[in-house]
Amino acid sequence: MTGFTERRTARLILRQWRESDLQPFAELNADPEVMEHFPARLSREQSDEFAARAAARIDDLGFGLWAVEVIESGAFAGFVGLNPVPPILPIQAAGPEVGWRLARPFWGQGLASEAAQAALDVGFDTFGFEEIVSFTGATNVRSQRVMQRLGMHRDPAEDFDHPVVAEGHRLRRHVLFRMRPTDRRWRAGSA
Ligand SMILES: CC(C)(COP(=O)(O)OP(=O)(O)OC[C@H]1O[C@@H](n2cnc3c(N)ncnc32)[C@H](O)[C@@H]1OP(=O)(O)O)[C@@H](O)C(=O)NCCC(=O)NCCS
Repeated sequence: MTGFTERRTARLILRQWRESDLQPFAELNADPEVMEHFPARLSREQSDEFAARAAARIDDLGFGLWAVEVIESGAFAGFVGLNPVPPILPIQAAGPEVGWRLARPFWGQGLASEAAQAALDVGFDTFGFEEIVSFTGATNVRSQRVMQRLGMHRDPAEDFDHPVVAEGHRLRRHVLFRMRPTDRRWRAGSA
């Protein structure tokens, strides 16, 4: 299914990936601060593969982890978007996850939340998902703040251990947030 080519917000464009995104994407994937809550930083090759997979999924599904471009400067900021929940995870969800990763200079301006709102609108309104979830390491407070800001809900009883992270590893424990279309705080008339 297609139906989404690019989406504009006040400050951003969510769009398909371009060749020129690969260098700045590799830089952010090699940044220890950006990757603090992931098991490892990515090599240039791994970063390029990630972008290629994300682009292919957008072509296949019509939604995905979109490249995020800042309208004013034309700069590539990172990705925000929707992704099917990997079946290996011990969670049940009625729709995809929403996720984000921005380069350090683009933090602290509300850009991840702005892009995520657009991604959630595409998921709920264009694709008709009844639910969108998000999850992250229990230590990733900044990402959880985005989830809270969006109006997503966490039930601590649904916290889970990530199956591919070794027992005892600081990144193993994960939190799960859920959202339904009516939870959207930015939509007039929503609950
Ligand atoms: C997680 C991540 C996307 C959050 O980015 P962020 O910029 O903190 O998130 P937001 O876009 O919601 O911005 C909120 C911040 O911008 C500030 N802000 C400034 N202008 C704003 C505006 N117009 N609207 C909203 N917030 C604004 C807020 O006060 C807040 O700052 P604070 O955290 O210092 O209080 C970013 O830290 C990141 O890419 N991290 C690495 C990758 C990662 O961990 N991804 C998640 C894995 S699951």
